[in-house]
Amino acid sequence: MLRCLTLTADSDTDKLRNIRNNSQWLDAIEIRLDLCLQRNKGFITSLVDTACEASLSVVILSFRREEDGGKKTELSEAERLNLLEQLLCPGITHVDIERGVTAPGVEARADELGIEVIRSLHDFQGVPASMTELIEEIAAVGEIPKIACYPSSSQDVLELIRIARETFRIKNKIVLGMGAFGFFSRVAPQLCGSMLTFCSAGERSGAPGQTSPRELEEVYRVSQQNSHTVYFGIIGNPVLHSKSPQLHNPWFAEGRMNAIYVPFQVDDVGLFMRLAEQLGIRGFSVTVPHKQKIIQQVDRVEEAVQSIGSCNTVIRTSEGWVGSNTDYQGFLAPLKRTDILSVGNHVLVIGAGGVARTVVYALVQAGLVVTIVNRTDEKAAGLAAEFGVNWKPMQSQLSAGKFELIVQTTSAGMEPNTEIDPLPGYKFKGSEIVYELIYAPEQTRFLSRAGDAGCRIIGGREMLHAQALLQFEQFSSAYNPEAE
Ligand code: ATR
Repeated sequence: MLRCLTLTADSDTDKLRNIRNNSQWLDAIEIRLDLCLQRNKGFITSLVDTACEASLSVVILSFRREEDGGKKTELSEAERLNLLEQLLCPGITHVDIERGVTAPGVEARADELGIEVIRSLHDFQGVPASMTELIEEIAAVGEIPKIACYPSSSQDVLELIRIARETFRIKNKIVLGMGAFGFFSRVAPQLCGSMLTFCSAGERSGAPGQTSPRELEEVYRVSQQNSHTVYFGIIGNPVLHSKSPQLHNPWFAEGRMNAIYVPFQVDDVGLFMRLAEQLGIRGFSVTVPHKQKIIQQVDRVEEAVQSIGSCNTVIRTSEGWVGSNTDYQGFLAPLKRTDILSVGNHVLVIGAGGVARTVVYALVQAGLVVTIVNRTDEKAAGLAAEFGVNWKPMQSQLSAGKFELIVQTTSAGMEPNTEIDPLPGYKFKGSEIVYELIYAPEQTRFLSRAGDAGCRIIGGREMLHAQALLQFEQFSSAYNPEAE
């Protein structure tokens, strides 16, 4: 699996620097002439020499047109192709020519220098219906097909995977999905049968969804992915903000498991289940907004999932797909290190959404006396009735000191709206434990206020970490079912 840096830096000096600084995570570079300020032999040679010094085996030369996502230039089409031809030189291993472009000069020069032709198609509208035929046609004439498409739904992703499976036997091809729905294909190119994935360094991305060389390797271990790699993942919409890949992937690496955990943007959980079957996915985390809908899609759920109505973990077992909820145990984990979980202790839960349901369930199980307060009183009343606990109107005076524990479950104060405080008038006594479930930022305004008042505070990362560790135990058993 080749990791290719698209040279996107604004200045040409930075392009050279980016090759040197990232070479440990790279196999290849793509020189995009549309992004170069100096389109001359001297500069191209310096890029090629730098790639060579860094022991990179592949150097691609391309000159992307604006309609294919390239930077606008003042050059005519004839001038563009002429430059591409003139700047081919020894050390360049591949030249990218767009499908439908007739460029005999470039092809002849490439042939002379032993440079392979990549025949590319960029589709920003979706997944082209005729991709299979296109890939076969291009491969049949000895060129390397490159298809960059833009899936914008789970249906499109299924289509992309269908094409990848149909063209499985063609090893020399580049197939990738752009954007959030296509992100999985950039970090797990193996899933699309792609020989190469592109990444970019610095501010400017070469194409929508490109990540950094360091992330590709340090998080997703792209160079080590192969046909035996077992895939896990997380489904959500959106999903790319999730920190879970940064937790699970290093754990898989530490455990010496050939397994990679990939984010999948999903807008239809039913279609994702089909995808999971096709890709042989062994387990996945579930995040917003799919924690309820996934319950109908699995073969069995554990009891807590039924009581909470929320499932955050699914694994493949000999009995089919099994759903569980590690959120509630993960939530309790940091509290178990205190003496707060004693029957009869009073706890205030702020919020009445999905996270609050899990929290209330866990606290009731532990025997605490729960009071819910929420921006929308009716939702607080509804959740309280369901679990047989108390609730208070938002406007009521909550007496400080009544609660030994306060749990903040709302999204109020989450990035980017970090100035919001979900309970601005509340005066902490200082003796209570305050547990914030938001993990970005690490310290919310609410939590800082509690800390300043002398409260013992617990941040959202603790729960995030604990629930992920519990998931990882399940993923490990699904990775190696014989070990059970
Ligand atoms: P989640 O699954 O993360 O709990 P949710 O089910 O949408 O998401 O619930 C969001 C919770 O955050 C709700 O309790 C919501 O209050 P409402 O029921 O009044 O909507 C709360 N919330 C969101 N934004 C808030 C804000 N700015 N101030 C106070 N509470 C807020």
